[in-house]
Formats: sequence, C-alpha cells, structure tokens
Amino acid sequence: MPKDFRRYIKRKRDFWWRKAKEEGYLSRAAYKLIQINERFKLIKPGMRCLDLGASPGGRTQVLSELVGDKGEVVAVDIRPLRYRARNVRFIRSDIRELDVESLGKFDLVLSDLAPNSSGHYSRDQARQLRLVLDAYEIAKRVLKPGGAFVSKVFYGEDVEDIVKGMRREFKFVKLFKPKASRSESAETYIVAVGYLKVKRRKRA
Ligand SMILES: C[S@@+](CC[C@H](N)C(=O)[O-])C[C@H]1O[C@@H](n2cnc3c(N)ncnc32)[C@H](O)[C@@H]1O
Repeated sequence: MPKDFRRYIKRKRDFWWRKAKEEGYLSRAAYKLIQINERFKLIKPGMRCLDLGASPGGRTQVLSELVGDKGEVVAVDIRPLRYRARNVRFIRSDIRELDVESLGKFDLVLSDLAPNSSGHYSRDQARQLRLVLDAYEIAKRVLKPGGAFVSKVFYGEDVEDIVKGMRREFKFVKLFKPKASRSESAETYIVAVGYLKVKRRKRA
C-alpha cells in the first residue's frame, strides 16, 4: 500500500482529524488549543497573540475567533498560512530570522513549532527542543508583564530542566497534554502563566 494512502487511512480513523474536517478547522491543532484554553483560561477578547509555527492555521483560526475584532494574531511560519481574517497578520519567515523588536508586545506567545520528522526520535526530539528554546527567547523579548507562553514540546530528558528554569520567570508553569494530542505521541505542552519580567543586565 502506498505510504500516502496509509497516512490518509490513518487520518480518516482519527477522531480529532474528522471533527476538524466537519467543523471547518484547518487542523486538529485547533482542538489542542481549545482544550488548553478550557483548562487555563488564557485567551480573552482584545488580546495580541504571537502564533509561532502557525501553518496550516487551525490554531490561528481559534485565536482569531477568541481575540475578536479588537485583538490581533501575528502568525509566523516558513510554510503558507491557509487562513485569512482581518485580525490576522501573517509573516512568512523562519522564526530565527524574525525582526523581533518590530513585532511589538504580546499578551500571549504560542509555539507549535516542529521539525519535519527524520524517523529518528532522539534526533527529532533534540531539534524540536531547539525550536522550543528559540521560541522561548522570542517570548521573553515580546511578552508583556503578566503574559503567557504556551509551547508544544516532545517530552524527553531536558524538558524538566527547562520547566525548572521557566519557574523563575513565570508565576506558574505546568506540563499539560490535551485530549486532542495523540496518546501514543510524546507531544505535550508547556503552559507558563504570569510573566514576571525579571530585570536583565544589559549586554556589555
Ligand atoms: C505542527 S505544525 C503547526 C500546526 C499549526 N499550529 C496549526 O494549528 O495548524 C509545525 C509547523 O512548524 C513550522 N516550522 C518548523 N520550523 C520552523 C521555523 N524554524 N520557523 C518557522 N516555522 C517553522 C512548520 O513549517 C510547520 O508548519
């Protein structure tokens, strides 16, 4: 059986994938954000959100609906975004090449960044962790005091250390796996709330 067809069959059996199709969401990632938000109540009308790793755009759709007309979503990805709305601005870029200072300040920074799978779990996990750290660096530069950072992470050895470091910078940090995340996958989410804006020494 061709690989693409096998993937299609697997997806068709997936409850959240079918639900996304039925309800008009571009990806199952929409439900992961809905479930994170049901638990932590992070998103409110009028907020500015930075969505890193936004393509195809299921999560951007949810953000756009929840922040409403007075809010804004800045979505970033190297791939095209398939969602358009008046309160969504899309920047097609590698996050490592973003002009971060020009983005302004945000109430919420989200990262769903993931590398293409190489088939080697430890290599993919290390590359994904690098993306988490890059997103975290961006978050620290653009978050308003009291803001939140939510990042997909493939669970592994270093994750607890990263969470420990984040606890010095946020009121609370939790690991949370939404129901829409496949139970067999190592994917989980870091949810860091209440950015404390620790004063940094200026670089010499
Ligand atoms: C799991 S998908 C995101 C799904 C998306 N959040 C949604 O709701 O539909 C991961 C995304 O990370 C993006 N990505 C990976 N590395 C990136 C980088 N260095 N800069 C920008 N985007 C990147 C990929 O292009 C891919 O679209």
